[in-house]
Amino acid sequence: MMSPSPGDLHAFLRSRRSIRRFKPDPVPAAVIERILTTAIHAPSAHNLQPWRFALLASESARERLGQALTAAMRRDMAAADAPEAEIETRVTRSLRRLNDAPVVILLCRDLTAVREQKPQDTVMAIQSVANAATYLLLAAHAEGLGGNWICWPLYAQEETRTALELPEAWEPQAMLFLGYADEEPKEKALKPLLEVTVT
Ligand SMILES: Cc1cc2nc3c(=O)[nH]c(=O)nc-3n(C[C@H](O)[C@H](O)[C@H](O)COP(=O)(O)O)c2cc1C
Repeated sequence: MMSPSPGDLHAFLRSRRSIRRFKPDPVPAAVIERILTTAIHAPSAHNLQPWRFALLASESARERLGQALTAAMRRDMAAADAPEAEIETRVTRSLRRLNDAPVVILLCRDLTAVREQKPQDTVMAIQSVANAATYLLLAAHAEGLGGNWICWPLYAQEETRTALELPEAWEPQAMLFLGYADEEPKEKALKPLLEVTVT
């Protein structure tokens, strides 16, 4: 097999974008398995591999998750005195996005996968889960799929864990929506390298 050139690989990595609109086409199970298998090759602190994945397979799991996430959304927005109409718009849009995503994967951190309990160990574990999420999005991109990282579960960690009946030690960190793209993302403004680097 010919290896891709560095130029090709850089171009591939740079072409990944967040996709928020998907075609309804289903994603084959074998593709999802390949993507997850690549995700678990991500680097992790002390090679502890604290990532855990919950694949939302059933409609009822999706419904329960939607309920949990939007209840927290309502609660937080009401506490911040958001107008009722704004809350309803956001809840409706969020449920539509959740329901329209052909694949939903929740990423968790296993609280028991630590060497020590110092705050730095917690940060390293969270960083490691984020690495798996990035690998997952890139693996999805390699399969011709679009993906979007969604932070909502961070605002409802306990509710999410309960809604999906996850093990107690699984702390929800993020949710990824995947599917075949039904949009062209707008060009993104990149901070120049010189602005974000010191030598
Ligand atoms: C930690 C994290 C949280 C994010 N949360 C959300 C989210 O809740 N909703 C969303 O639409 N996009 C979310 N995104 C996607 C970012 O908005 C997106 O990566 C960024 O705008 C850059 O665009 P790109 O992914 O197309 O390069 C998140 C990304 C990261 C890394």
